[in-house]
Amino acid sequence: MKKPIIAKNKPVVLELEPGTYHWCSCGKSKDQPFCDGSHKGSPFKPVTIRLANKKKLVLCQCKQTNNPPFCDGSHQRNIIMGQGETEM
Ligand code: FES
Repeated sequence: MKKPIIAKNKPVVLELEPGTYHWCSCGKSKDQPFCDGSHKGSPFKPVTIRLANKKKLVLCQCKQTNNPPFCDGSHQRNIIMGQGETEM
């Protein structure tokens, strides 16, 4: 299985208005943490987020989370292993 690209080695906290959002799972989007269509031609697909109410979310940007689209702390494991960016 192809691995996603590490977009950033830290999550982003966003307070989102009600609506539909598409979280980038491939890591290639220039509009992180959201999909910009750059996954086309790859095995990755965006994850749809539907919000009925305004909500604060902690969204994964290292793309290694086991609970997409949310951060599960996997970026800390990546830093320890020396993978990807180290920007904090
Ligand atoms: Fe990454 Fe669409 S650009 S899933």
